[in-house]
Amino acid sequence: MHHITTIVTGREWATLTWSDGLTQSLYAPWLRDNAQDSQTVHPGNGQRLIDIADLPENAAFRSATLSTDGSLAITFDPDGHESVYPASWLRGFAAPAQDPYGPRLWPTGFTVARFEYGKIIADRDTERNWLTAIARDGIALVTDAPVEPETVCAIAENFGFVRETNYGRLFDVRSVENPTNMAFTSAGLMVHTDNPYRDPVPGLQLLHCLQNETDGGGSLFVDGFQVADRLRRDDPEAFRILSTTWLPFRFHDATVDLQARAPMITVDDKGRVVTIRYNNRSIAPADLSAADLPAFYDAYRKFSHYLRNPEVEATLRLAPGDCVVFDNMRVLHGRKGFAPGKRWLQGCYADKDAVYGRLRIGDDKTVQQM
Ligand code: OGA
Ligand code: ZN
Repeated sequence: MHHITTIVTGREWATLTWSDGLTQSLYAPWLRDNAQDSQTVHPGNGQRLIDIADLPENAAFRSATLSTDGSLAITFDPDGHESVYPASWLRGFAAPAQDPYGPRLWPTGFTVARFEYGKIIADRDTERNWLTAIARDGIALVTDAPVEPETVCAIAENFGFVRETNYGRLFDVRSVENPTNMAFTSAGLMVHTDNPYRDPVPGLQLLHCLQNETDGGGSLFVDGFQVADRLRRDDPEAFRILSTTWLPFRFHDATVDLQARAPMITVDDKGRVVTIRYNNRSIAPADLSAADLPAFYDAYRKFSHYLRNPEVEATLRLAPGDCVVFDNMRVLHGRKGFAPGKRWLQGCYADKDAVYGRLRIGDDKTVQQM
């Protein structure tokens, strides 16, 4: 474990030097705001008791001393507030650990990891491995689940909560008369993300197979983050257009008219792709200026070609009792057409944060605060 060797303080800034040579700048108002003492945070639940406006505007260092246990004791100006900062806590900001549950792009020849339903239920380690695969790969297959209607909801409830929508708590994916959605026909579906017309978009989708007795009906999946990164590498301008052009998405039937606006590719403050919205059925007519339309169409067409590249696809044939769980903000899904009456899936949605939340909790902590 690294320890602090020296601290040099000015008025608003201090510099720590660590035993491995790393230096860390500390801003007094930041340290004061993030103090861990019982006047600043509740000792039981760790939640902050003060609001930034309750603190003096001109927080500065009055004194800073290294304790024998390696922690840093600070007295602040102007109010004389004292607080102690454990070395391990400070170090976490100097050298942040890599997120163990961050996405890992699919390698060539990627295959979807499989987990037996009974083991997920019975064994916490298998459950963790399953959730870790969902987090890192954006997809995992549960096998040998009961071939019973509504099992899909029970699977989601292993880690979180079903997100009910206008399609119901769960939806039947089979061919019906007068379908409100092309998913409820026997037609093939190009890879897509579900429900880009919803705000927020569903984070996870589960599809549980009850019947699949047709030659067709195969499932395909594409790592949208990887395809978006390829587009960015090959054609930065196309990527820029798709990540900055807000588009309308829409679904309407007799009971709802859902509309949302968002880009096809959403990028975070660090330039990482965080959400893909791609659905040829529910993208609404792009309301772009004449000047922007041609370049938008070039970029859109290019992205679509990239998504159809068989090299980036993972294929599965769902058998009764299989349930595929995937990140609907990252992994696109599609299917081949099938013979009506011979294939039946049940689907539901859930929020992604439940997966990460459950993974981070670890085995040893049983009580968590709201
Ligand atoms: C869906 C869908 C795929 C399938 O219901 O959203 O895309 O394999 N279904 O039937
Ligand atoms: Zn779908």
